[in-house]
Amino acid sequence: MKLIITDGDPGTKAAEIVKEKLLAAGDKKFVLSLPTGGTPLGMYKNLARMNADGEITFKNVITFNLDEYEGLGIESDQSYRYFMENNFFKFIDIKKENINIPNGLASDLNAECEEYERKIKAAGGIDLLVAGVGENGHLAFNEPGSPFDSKTRVVELTEDTINVNARYFANAADVPRRALSMGVGTILGAREILVLASGAKKAEAVRAAFEAPVNPECVITALRNHPNAVIIADKEAASLIK
Ligand code: F6R
Repeated sequence: MKLIITDGDPGTKAAEIVKEKLLAAGDKKFVLSLPTGGTPLGMYKNLARMNADGEITFKNVITFNLDEYEGLGIESDQSYRYFMENNFFKFIDIKKENINIPNGLASDLNAECEEYERKIKAAGGIDLLVAGVGENGHLAFNEPGSPFDSKTRVVELTEDTINVNARYFANAADVPRRALSMGVGTILGAREILVLASGAKKAEAVRAAFEAPVNPECVITALRNHPNAVIIADKEAASLIK
């Protein structure tokens, strides 16, 4: 596993890497998996600007988001679908039909998760997966204890994650208790993985990624089982690595 330490926002570096990969793919389809949250905002801004300037196009890109809250859809401004539309998709030339986000409003959530896995396979698998990391080391909504071979499924959020994510809601009671999340196995199935980490609050998770024993209690350690995983961290997030 590789570590890139950035002077400023890791999202700026991530956008450059995504651009390189898109240019290398040329006219071929490219399957890109994307996170929400505070960390990737700079990446989305940079990619949207590159698209507006004609440096890159998303017309051959198929996206699969990592996760979505149960019970929230586009009309809720806390849903991940709303986040993606308003922070990224509305600014780029991606085809609507190439955007995939688990449907938190599906009547049968388990069937929705199975269908999501089927769609990823049908698209040829994930070329590049970009993720953030939780303070507890989670990737997507794979909380501590998530098996490394898990697939897209309905997950319970931990109290820690509910409290951390409460900053985006009016109060903690409004944070959904469950979500649909790609599994750790789904993530490890991507051909390349980029994890972005910024700020001192992520320093312990980044340290654990490299130094803790590989084990499901700290999900980010799963990346050490992947041949092509990179963590991009700013100085604060990388500060505890020995
Ligand atoms: C979001 C996701 C989460 C976040 C993580 C970090 O789609 O899957 O794992 O990436 O919780 O969130 P921020 O970037 O807000 O610190």
